[in-house]
Amino acid sequence: MSDIRDEVAENFTEIYGYEPTGLWSAPGRVNLIGEHTDYNEGFVLPFAINRRTVLALGIRDDAVVRVGSSFADEAAEIALAELTPDALDGWSAYPLGVIWALGQFGADLAAVPGVDIYLESTVPVGAGLSSSAAIESSVAFALNEVWQLGLDRQTLAKVGQLAENKAVGAPTGIMDQSASLLGQADAAVFLDCRSLESAVVPLGLAAAGLEFLVIDTGVAHEHATGGYRARRDSCERGAAAMGVPSLRHLTVDDLERAREILDDETFRRVRHVVTEDQRVLETVRVLRESGPLAIGDLLDASHASMRDDFEISVPELDLAVETAQANGAIGARMTGGGFGGSAIALVPTDAISRIQVAIDGAFAEHGFGQPTMFVVTASNGANRE
Ligand code: GLA
Repeated sequence: MSDIRDEVAENFTEIYGYEPTGLWSAPGRVNLIGEHTDYNEGFVLPFAINRRTVLALGIRDDAVVRVGSSFADEAAEIALAELTPDALDGWSAYPLGVIWALGQFGADLAAVPGVDIYLESTVPVGAGLSSSAAIESSVAFALNEVWQLGLDRQTLAKVGQLAENKAVGAPTGIMDQSASLLGQADAAVFLDCRSLESAVVPLGLAAAGLEFLVIDTGVAHEHATGGYRARRDSCERGAAAMGVPSLRHLTVDDLERAREILDDETFRRVRHVVTEDQRVLETVRVLRESGPLAIGDLLDASHASMRDDFEISVPELDLAVETAQANGAIGARMTGGGFGGSAIALVPTDAISRIQVAIDGAFAEHGFGQPTMFVVTASNGANRE
């Protein structure tokens, strides 16, 4: 990490002409299990990864904000007083949206000093690893410190989510920002998205001789439009028809009644969410009692449910998962919102290269673009560098 930190500090100084006050960072995430459950007030089990957004920040003596990054040629500039979700677009909607959202959570934007921000990221964009949450969480965490706002990490996650929902316009849940802020080394974050209570669940990978391999299919996904929103709508329709405020209020025992009341498609959407919540609880229990070698079937079942019931997988993700499973993975599933992005495989260390070769070969055989594969470790959440 020291390289990117040096680079970010140097680029800050070059662009703004003075040295930054400090450096902060926040990670992307992989979701171990619990997909499309967060906005249904259910359970998720993500972990923060060793790929981060690093930002440098300097304090100004006026009420202006500038945000620059390696994503754009020029820094965007706006007066704090003019920040509204509608005024924002492009990549800078993420950091500027967070500043607006901090105002919604009590920051007095008329009283705080302006800031200059410059950031870079090692979280691949468009891979379904929450590069956006990494930006949001790093900005929220840094400004909470320099503006002395006193917000806790879970509240900062809500700030990031509000920015994503209103400034970026993606109707996403609370999982990604929570993972980015609450993550801990070698552990997953077990989050109840209704109460927002969380617990750290040790993964114990090294002791079991296992690692997580990410397979980025290179298929672009987009949550602001299309399938993600449609799935969310289906879940809301299903809950309303079942007479509950959210799908969290249903259990597998309710599925028989759901099948009678709902059309087939809505029923399958509901069945995914209800069974996925159950799988998260089961994964937490198995991890605690038996360790990671025993969670493979749950990961596989989660993927099947997303493929068949929730219908958010794509052929590239299915092929990555099946090839990993057939070549020695303990378990595998697509991760994140779906319609592209990445799959993860839980693999014995000594099987990693065999699995990579097999996946490369299978993609070539099917005429799919070459996937990008790398090992990730579970890492700490947002911090000051
Ligand atoms: C995206 C969203 C999350 C969550 C997942 C699906 O990553 O940002 O809030 O809904 O999809 O589990």
